Amino acid sequence: MTATARPAGPPHPAAEGDPLAGGADVWLLAEEDVPRFAAATGGLGLLTEEERARHDRLLFPAARARFLGARLLSRQVLSQYADVPPAQWRFEKGKFGRPTVQGADWGLDFNLTHTNGLIAAIVVRGRTAGVDAETTPARPEALRFAPKVFTPLEQEILRRDREDQQGHAFADSWVAKEAYTKATGMGMARGFDAFSVHRLRGGGLAVVDDEIPEPERPLWQIQVLQVWDRFALGIAIRASEDDTGPIPVRLRSAMAELLPRPAGDGAR
Ligand SMILES: CC(C)(COP(=O)(O)OP(=O)(O)OC[C@H]1O[C@@H](n2cnc3c(N)ncnc32)[C@H](O)[C@@H]1OP(=O)(O)O)[C@@H](O)C(=O)NCCC(=O)NCCS
Repeated sequence: MTATARPAGPPHPAAEGDPLAGGADVWLLAEEDVPRFAAATGGLGLLTEEERARHDRLLFPAARARFLGARLLSRQVLSQYADVPPAQWRFEKGKFGRPTVQGADWGLDFNLTHTNGLIAAIVVRGRTAGVDAETTPARPEALRFAPKVFTPLEQEILRRDREDQQGHAFADSWVAKEAYTKATGMGMARGFDAFSVHRLRGGGLAVVDDEIPEPERPLWQIQVLQVWDRFALGIAIRASEDDTGPIPVRLRSAMAELLPRPAGDGAR
């Protein structure tokens, strides 16, 4: 099975002055802000019937909030980059469950993650992206899973890290690897011990995966950002063949930038 990402999207109507031409946006929404975000942006009314049914089947209020927050965040975010109202987006799922925008020719790709306390959505155009967030440092129990998810060399690197840094190192490696598999669309269906993410001398990260065809290897960009001192945020971007350098990633706040402005507030 190959880990090849889908090809970059077709030319799209937003090429002129496109805010995504020069980079990727990652939008953050704190779980505790979901009720306010939902009240201000249309709440359950923006979801499809099928999404509302999934929401209603969730037993725990936190799971419902994350589900609703993720649906609303992706819809609001996508509408920043295309002339489509938030309620009108429709999604389809790939073989391993990766959602993508259905039908529309906007060239947009997005990916979502939700963890206890944070929902994040990455969006790119003409490129492919994956995102994953986990609380950092990882709990000591989590480190026991290292043999299942890291290559022997990655495990050794982890073991040789300073003991008080191992929880952060584990979380960083985990989110980097998961973001990569989410960009490819395979998620955990790809064995995490079958490829590795390594730190480069300059501080950056690189994915080492024999299943990426040779010419595509330079197109992959992996990053881990620290968010709110509590979360490791893994970002994987497969650049387009036209990109000539690293893709800048902008972190953006859903609450600060996506809520409708009060009437009379002309400021942007
Ligand atoms: C993708 C996956 C790694 C996410 O795991 P997680 O850490 O629990 O969850 P995260 O919060 O980081 O991400 C969840 C989101 O990723 C997206 N997602 C789901 N499957 C995905 C995939 N294969 N690739 C990329 N993204 C995926 C969805 O938007 C999902 O959120 P939603 O269900 O609210 O829409 C995991 O669900 C997985 O491995 N799925 C594939 C497993 C499989 O083989 N499925 C086959 C039958 S569908």
